[in-house]
Amino acid sequence: MQRIDGKQLGITIQEEIRQEVAQLTATGNRAPHLVAVLVGDNPASATYVRAKMRACKRTGFQSTLVQKESDVTESELLDVVKQLNEDPNVDGFIVQLPLPKHIDEHVITMAIDPIKDVDGFHPTNFGLMALGMPQYIPATPYGIITMLDRYNIETSGKHCVVIGRSNIVGTPMSILMSRKAKVGNCTVTLTHSRTKDVAEEVRRADIVIAAIGRANFVTADMVKEGAVVIDVGINSVDDASRKRGYRLVGDVDFENVAPKCSFITPVPGGVGPMTVTALLMNTLEGYKTHYLK
Ligand code: GUN
Repeated sequence: MQRIDGKQLGITIQEEIRQEVAQLTATGNRAPHLVAVLVGDNPASATYVRAKMRACKRTGFQSTLVQKESDVTESELLDVVKQLNEDPNVDGFIVQLPLPKHIDEHVITMAIDPIKDVDGFHPTNFGLMALGMPQYIPATPYGIITMLDRYNIETSGKHCVVIGRSNIVGTPMSILMSRKAKVGNCTVTLTHSRTKDVAEEVRRADIVIAAIGRANFVTADMVKEGAVVIDVGINSVDDASRKRGYRLVGDVDFENVAPKCSFITPVPGGVGPMTVTALLMNTLEGYKTHYLK
């Protein structure tokens, strides 16, 4: 069994990005600029956004955090999006999800200029990805693809089972794994809440991608010997032995599943750091395409 070290791979790729940015700025170009919009006080969202801003600092990107109270109106948030769309010094921006209930996430996502949509959530970018002409691949799927690529994990002809059909992870992941590409060419099964027997589907998988958001959902009896297991879940479970009273676990029962796997990602230190890295990769790409030209 080999543990896929997303933390180390993230550090390696971020160092490559830092060197590239240093070269670009040394020749008189401005640094790439990523803006994150954070609404309200969701602690998980605040943690993710902080990690993204820290990664910008590490790699020499300019970063800006725009914070709005949870009672911000949809029209006020649309004004923020419009300003960022029009700002030539901003290469890419994200609006951290989820948003408060009174704001329609689709309306906000649709308002983002696809050229600056480094999350890859806009229908234009989603469509381009589905057609195999990607502009920006959503950060978490892009991070996973990059991991599989850098670890030289063979995907062609394999059976990939994705658990969860979210717009952010499960659905794009299922499309990417089935496309004709270096990481791809899988036969894909996308399982969800109406799947008759998820365990039975997962048992047939060479590659499992768990993105359902339920702690320890994937157990050892569900995993084929030699499978590759990618755990996208970040779930908080009570743990009195920890100072903060909880710990983070994935969607996979790591301890019991790991011995059966050829490769497995841990939580934390697996997919999470790769998501942040993929966001930087998208922003750098946007900067090179639209600022450097
Ligand atoms: N919420 C959970 N994951 C993400 C992400 O990748 N981007 C944004 N904007 N919100 C999220």
